[in-house]
Amino acid sequence: MSVAQHLESIDSTMSSPHPSRMGHPAPSVTVPSAPPIYQSTAFDVPDLDVLEKIHSGELHGDIYTRDSNPNHTALAESIAVLEETEAGAVFASGMGALGSIFLTLASAGDHVILAKAIYGKTMQLAHRMQRLGISTSTFDATRPDELTSLITEKTRFVLVETVSNPLLEVSDIRAISNLLPSKIPLVVDSTFTTPELIKPCQLGASIVMHSASKYINGHGDVMLGLAAGSAVLMKRLNSTASVFGQNANPFESWLCQRGLKTLPLRMTQICRTTLELARSISGHPGVRRVYHPSLSDHVSHEIAQQLYPFGTGGILSIELAGNGVEVVNAFMRAAESIPFAPTLADARTTLSHPATTSHRFMSPEARAAVGIHDELVRLSVGLESFEQLQADLSAALDVIAGI
Ligand SMILES: Cc1ncc(COP(=O)(O)O)c(C=O)c1O
Repeated sequence: MSVAQHLESIDSTMSSPHPSRMGHPAPSVTVPSAPPIYQSTAFDVPDLDVLEKIHSGELHGDIYTRDSNPNHTALAESIAVLEETEAGAVFASGMGALGSIFLTLASAGDHVILAKAIYGKTMQLAHRMQRLGISTSTFDATRPDELTSLITEKTRFVLVETVSNPLLEVSDIRAISNLLPSKIPLVVDSTFTTPELIKPCQLGASIVMHSASKYINGHGDVMLGLAAGSAVLMKRLNSTASVFGQNANPFESWLCQRGLKTLPLRMTQICRTTLELARSISGHPGVRRVYHPSLSDHVSHEIAQQLYPFGTGGILSIELAGNGVEVVNAFMRAAESIPFAPTLADARTTLSHPATTSHRFMSPEARAAVGIHDELVRLSVGLESFEQLQADLSAALDVIAGI
């Protein structure tokens, strides 16, 4: 079609749109510079021949957003490029991604191995899976050799996080994957680290997943999950997500795609600020201990140097010098500019208290056994300057130290 014919067809569309096309933008010789949001439940299919060709894969097209949508496809392709895998997949949340992974890879009678130090809701998901006949075992992901004795004929996958919450223990992904028989996939939750800092599938993992509600989106305004791996695995995860309704919303995918544009800049600054803060507050009298892998007393200091030359992200945990939740309350009230919010990876710095949020489902004794004391606070460092954060934190620590 020539441009003249095209413009003529635009005119005719605009002057008398068919009622079913009313409200649709008129065709244009230009395309939007930013991707549009395809906020549509379904897609109009011209005829049954095209429908068949879409189903067989001969033509690319979307039919129903629960199965596929251009915004999800674009984001799935982006995460696959960043993780250097064949394909990606998008879910309603990080838990949606994990739910789909469990339901796709394991069935009644099967067995799954998880890292001991894992996100609380992931542990709850594993417990719920027991109701479906899927048994679980746990191991210390900082000691890969513990894994070997746990593997059985029924083990269907192993799940670890790159860096644990809140004590930042680092999993040796390469060593874990080397220990696994090839038929047992390693699934890595890289929410804390993102492909800017590590690409688990390049170290032997079969699937990497993210709560994209965190750094990948990075602005604290999206709930989304992502996975990346082989095209075959991603197709299976997508199919499970469609059946169980774990699918995302196009607007969230669009927002997340926008957030991705600044991921490298954000992660570079966040890692640098976190490292400087960890060093600068370590000796403060208001601090009993700082947990950060860059510090030589951290259990994962050596492996972190090997796997994370640019840093482990923006999480930093501080055990306050004082007693119980009272000292935490005093610190929170004094650190006025740092809001308490049970999330992480917002553009602004936030504070959380693992004992009463992410780990409240554990008994005080169980928490103490893994080193999560009532005096522990977790900082998620944002994009403010190091100078401002150091001043605010030091002032709050001065208050609890009685300086
Ligand atoms: C490590 C980790 N994995 C998974 C999740 C779950 O993600 P979402 O909140 O997007 O469901 C979270 C949430 O905080 C997380 O921290």
